Amino acid sequence: MCGIVGIIGTAPVAPRLVDALKRLEYRGYDSAGVATLEGGNIARRRAEGKLGNLAQKLSFEPLEGRIGIGHTRWATHGAPTEANAHPHATERVAVVHNGIIENFRELLADLARDGYLPKTQTDTESVALWVSRELDRGLDPEMAVGRTLRVLRGAFALAFLFKGEDTMLIAARRGAPLAIGYGDTEMYLGSDAMALAPFTSRLSYLQDGDWAVLTPRGVTIRDGQDGIVQREQQVSAASALMVDKGNHRHFMAKEIYEQPETISHTLSHYLDMGAERVALRETLPFDFARLSRLTMSACGTAYFAGSIAKYWFEKLARLPVDIDVASEFRYREPPLQADGLSLFISQSGETADTLAALRYCAGQGQHVASLVNVRESTIARESQVVFPTLCGPEIGVASTKALTAQLSALASLALAAGVARGAIGPEAEAELVRALISLPSAVSKALKSEGQIVEIAKSLSKAKDVLYLGRGPMYPVAMEGALKLKEISYIHAEGYAAGELKHGPIALVDESMPVIVVAPSDPLMEKTLSNMQEVAARGGRIILITDEDGAAQAGHGIADIILIPKVSSFVAPILATIPVQLLAYHTAVFMGTDVDQPRNLAKSVTVE
Ligand code: F6R
Repeated sequence: MCGIVGIIGTAPVAPRLVDALKRLEYRGYDSAGVATLEGGNIARRRAEGKLGNLAQKLSFEPLEGRIGIGHTRWATHGAPTEANAHPHATERVAVVHNGIIENFRELLADLARDGYLPKTQTDTESVALWVSRELDRGLDPEMAVGRTLRVLRGAFALAFLFKGEDTMLIAARRGAPLAIGYGDTEMYLGSDAMALAPFTSRLSYLQDGDWAVLTPRGVTIRDGQDGIVQREQQVSAASALMVDKGNHRHFMAKEIYEQPETISHTLSHYLDMGAERVALRETLPFDFARLSRLTMSACGTAYFAGSIAKYWFEKLARLPVDIDVASEFRYREPPLQADGLSLFISQSGETADTLAALRYCAGQGQHVASLVNVRESTIARESQVVFPTLCGPEIGVASTKALTAQLSALASLALAAGVARGAIGPEAEAELVRALISLPSAVSKALKSEGQIVEIAKSLSKAKDVLYLGRGPMYPVAMEGALKLKEISYIHAEGYAAGELKHGPIALVDESMPVIVVAPSDPLMEKTLSNMQEVAARGGRIILITDEDGAAQAGHGIADIILIPKVSSFVAPILATIPVQLLAYHTAVFMGTDVDQPRNLAKSVTVE
């Protein structure tokens, strides 16, 4: 993970490095740092914790250099201290790094024999020391980096600044994203287009194995075999405007409240609302009617989106579906059928495991599609067809509006598949489209339960453990509810298939255990209600999320009922995510945690 940036400028670069890092903070916020050349010598400012600490340090001890590199860290090797903060440097070179150097111990052992000893616990320092030794042996910076890259194992993006070289930065990419930005008289590098948006929209993306020498006049890019290559320049659509919180206390709250609009925006891309038809705009490199199987891979919340969509594709389109978390899928080496579609779901489009799963499927001759929120991301660029979620930048680390946008798109795709495969006739199609169209207003109504949810969250904040139960498509909603609660409130929570309760977890139930049951009225609800009664009989504190019909059938022993509007069972799982988001959000607010940037997490997970 981590975000990196570099500028060869015509004015002091430190304030702009910090601006760019602010836009990369979603990649990690354990520490931050910058290095510039002051009178030809490397000077660094680094600070533990959020970027604000670095900005404060720079206000007391400013840097004036016109060339520099910067870093925001998500710790992998070494605690999140100032000493372990990037840039790592020797007297001759400073380096910022996103990713992992897998063989750093081996490298450090070799370096130690020549007296090059680390001062930190990071893997990155091995790179700074290795380049330094090459420089000490008389190589110029370009040759020193070229030689160093040959010994590194792992996935990384790197940027180097050299003592005495005030017009040169070197960048390298292997497995982690890196863009080069072209100004009129300046040059830039950064982990993504958003970081560079305030400076330039003219970008080229390094490909895996590439490394580049930047000077004010331009860039020379070499591939993994050191041959000079050209990488196409593109005009990025990333916005230079920073998103703000509006009237909300946290980005997460703002994003939860944006959902009627973001769902509507996403649906309008996939549906012809007037004609009540699904209408895909993308040119498909496959035919839904001929697909043998759909294989989905994703991580975290995006995986739960796929898990819900599995029910839609199987039921509505009669298309067999496999879904797995990408970090498991990629190592299983599953055999994949001819004429199979692989679909990768990712808000950021940069998640390392999802990308690796994509490459595996592409290598197996599958049709490769992705559903992403960042159109310029690596996953999008490597897909044959890209389905967008149109929910705008998601800043809160805990995913909310991206999930409902993913679900809206996936529901539309399942419909398109059903129509193409002859499993859905015109009348059913119109009815299902109407159900989708009704969703934004149902979400607005569901958001009105906030007052009641605040009260429930107050009591939830005192719990040590919480169980979430659901059946059918509500099972992934339950897992999502548990994930959301634990990641932002730090309360232990588990999501279970309601029917599995009696096979073990019911042993946990006592008076102190809140059990959140997600069960809108549908043909499965009765069974879930029986499981709920099993909990009630053991004194568990039940919070039921359901609609009015469900509430009428629910029976006794329920502490709280959170009502959501009655909608078609097709879109009910999308609607049911709203109260679980609000419950997690308000519980976290009571706990006083850092809701938008919870501890130990990052928005984009580019390590395996
Ligand atoms: C949880 C959350 C994460 C992400 C996961 C995948 O709230 O946000 O679980 O869903 O890290 O990220 P993307 O979608 O960027 O691949």
